[in-house]
Amino acid sequence: MAVWSPEKRVWWNEPVERGELLWVAIAFLWGVFMFFMMIYWHINGNQNLSTETYKIKPEDYVAKVEAFVERYQVGEEGDTGVPVVAPPPGSDVYLLARLWEFWPVLQLQKGQSYRLHLSSADWQHGFSLQPINMNIQVHPGYEHVMTITPMETGVFAVVCNEYCGAGHHTMVGRIRVVEPGQGG
Ligand code: CUA
Repeated sequence: MAVWSPEKRVWWNEPVERGELLWVAIAFLWGVFMFFMMIYWHINGNQNLSTETYKIKPEDYVAKVEAFVERYQVGEEGDTGVPVVAPPPGSDVYLLARLWEFWPVLQLQKGQSYRLHLSSADWQHGFSLQPINMNIQVHPGYEHVMTITPMETGVFAVVCNEYCGAGHHTMVGRIRVVEPGQGG
């Protein structure tokens, strides 16, 4: 099969087909519509989280999480060696994503608000809180902060939902929510 030069080389001077123009217009208008729907869903659907985001060096974030764990650790999670941390209501709580764990296990009180900080020590990870299905991308170099108020007690799984290598499928953390007054 031979390869021929196009008949008209300056293709961008050719008129655009009416059908193609129509699709470009529809796609553009749909994009504008969905842009405003993002704002609408944020207000009326509670679908997007209001996070504050700050730049931070990964090693500085790790140091903050370590200091937080040292201050509020109350035990260890089973025989995993992962610390369980019970910070006081209203405080800043820190969660670190790294290959391949969420560290530490947070123990929070039902009905109390916390400022949850989230960042990564290495790769991109995903914070997916189950079964609530709250999802946040976690990047090294950026610290997300959001206010959370757990409304039911129980043990919630934090699943990594961004592929991050060989141990990705094992990257599961825990957040425990207890009745007020039960520690923390
Ligand atoms: Cu961390 Cu996938």
